[in-house]
Amino acid sequence: MTATNTLDIRDNRTGKSYTVPITDGTIRAADLRQVRVDDADFGMMSYDPAFMNTASCRSAITFIDGDVGILRYRGYPIEQLAEQASFLEVAYLLRHGELPTQSQYDSWVHDITFHTYVHENIKHFLEGFRYDAHPMSMLASSVAALSAFYPEAKHITDDQSRYVSIIRLLAKLPTLAAFCYRHSKGLPFVYPDNDLLYCENYLSMIARMSEPKYEAHPAFVKAIEVLFILHADHEQNCSTSAVRAVGSSHVDPFSAVAAGITALYGPLHGGANEQVLRMIESIGHPKNVGAFIDEVKDGKGQRLMGFGHRVYKSYDPRARIVKQLAYDVFKVTGMDKDLEIALELERIALADDYFVSRKLYPNVDFYTGLIYRAMKFPTDYFTVLFAVARTAGWLAQWEEMLLDKEQKIARPRQVYTGYEERPYTHQLDRSHRLKK
Ligand code: CMC
Repeated sequence: MTATNTLDIRDNRTGKSYTVPITDGTIRAADLRQVRVDDADFGMMSYDPAFMNTASCRSAITFIDGDVGILRYRGYPIEQLAEQASFLEVAYLLRHGELPTQSQYDSWVHDITFHTYVHENIKHFLEGFRYDAHPMSMLASSVAALSAFYPEAKHITDDQSRYVSIIRLLAKLPTLAAFCYRHSKGLPFVYPDNDLLYCENYLSMIARMSEPKYEAHPAFVKAIEVLFILHADHEQNCSTSAVRAVGSSHVDPFSAVAAGITALYGPLHGGANEQVLRMIESIGHPKNVGAFIDEVKDGKGQRLMGFGHRVYKSYDPRARIVKQLAYDVFKVTGMDKDLEIALELERIALADDYFVSRKLYPNVDFYTGLIYRAMKFPTDYFTVLFAVARTAGWLAQWEEMLLDKEQKIARPRQVYTGYEERPYTHQLDRSHRLKK
C-alpha cells in the first residue's frame, strides 16, 4: 500500500466520506467545512479552547521540541547563542533569519543606538503615574503612547517604515523600561549614553547617579545579555499570539507590541517570575517546603510558580542556563539567602509523583527572580526585563505575520451556547430575576 498525504474522514451522521490533504502533519481546519449534514449546515469546525492543538501560522523563527527540551532560534541552539552571541546579534538573527556579517551588525547596532532617546513629552507622560504604579502598566502604556509620537508607523506595508519602527522599538524599550524604574524610585530619569553597548546603557539608565560615566559590573552586564537572549523569542506563546492577533488588524507595531506587554504581564506568563519570588519569600525557610508542596498538590494553595509549561514536558533548556547564571551572579553579590528554598522546591518537586506524572519541570522563570533580586531590581519590576527582551521576538513574529500571504485578520469562530431567539420583555415582567 502506498502512503498518501491525506486523511479520510467518515461522517457517521450522514454516511458520507471525505478526503482532506495533510501538509506538515496538519490538516486545514477550513477543509472540515465541507463536512455538512445538509445544505443549511454551516459545516464542521474544530473546537480548541486555549489553542492546545492548533497551529495558527507557519513560522521559520523559533523551534521548540518540548518533549526533549530543545530551543533554537533560526536553527541555532539556545545554549550556543547564550554563550557566544550578543543580544542585538540575536535580535538581528530573529528578524533577518541569518546571523549578521560584521558590517551588517555594525549598521544594525548604529541604527539602534541612535534611536535610544524618547520625546521629552514621554517623561511628562510617565510623571503622571503614581509612585506605586506597577512598572508593567507604565511600560505598556508608554509603548502604546509611542504610536501617537510616530503616526507614520501605521504604514506597515512599507519596508522602510517597518524597519524604522522595529529599530525604534528595540532602541527605546530599554529607555522606557529604565524610566519606569526611575519613576517608581522617585529618581531623576537618566538619558541614554550612546557610547555604551545596549545592555551597559540599560544598566546605566537604571543605576547612574552623579557619576559622569556609569560602568556596570561586567558580571551584571553579562547576566542581562544572557537573560535577554534567553527571553528573546519563544514561538507562539500568549503574548506573541497577542502581538500577531492585534497586528493582524494592520494597526501600527507600537500598539501591537503594547498588547504583547499586557499579555506578558499576567502571572501565568511573564508575570510568573515576580510570583516565583513572592512564593519563595512566603515559604520563608527550606524546612517549610514540604508543607508548601503538599498545599500545591491539594489544590488548596497556589500553583508552584516557575514550574510547568504548555510546550516543555521536560526541563526547560533556558532554566538550566539561568540556574548556572545565578551562581555566576552570586559570586559577585554573595549567595542568595533564599537559594536553598528554591533548590529544595526543585529537589522535592522533581521527585514527587504529582509533578513527575504531569511532566512539570522548572521553567525559565524559576531562577530568574533570584538573579534579578541579587542585582537589586524590585520584585514588581522583573517582568519588565522580560518584556524588553521579548520585544525582539514580537517584532520578528509581527513582520513575519505581515509578510505571510496566507494571514488575514485573526478572527476565531465560536460554539454558541446561549439562548435561541426570544422576545424582549418589560422590566416588570422579568420574573427570572425573582427566582434567584
Ligand atoms: N503547579 C502545580 N500544578 C500544576 C502546575 C504548577 N505550576 N502547572 C500545571 N499544573 C497541573 C495542573 O493543575 C493540571 O493538573 P490536572 O491535570 O490534575 O488538572 C496539569 O498540571 C496540567 O496543567 P494545565 O494548567 O492544563 O497546563 P497548561 O499547559 O494549560 O499551563 C502553565 C501551563 C505554564 C500556565 C502552568 O504550568 C502554570 O500555571 N505554571 C505556573 C506559572 C508559570 O510558571 N508560568 C510561566 C511559564 S514559562 C514563561 C512564560 O512562558 O511566560
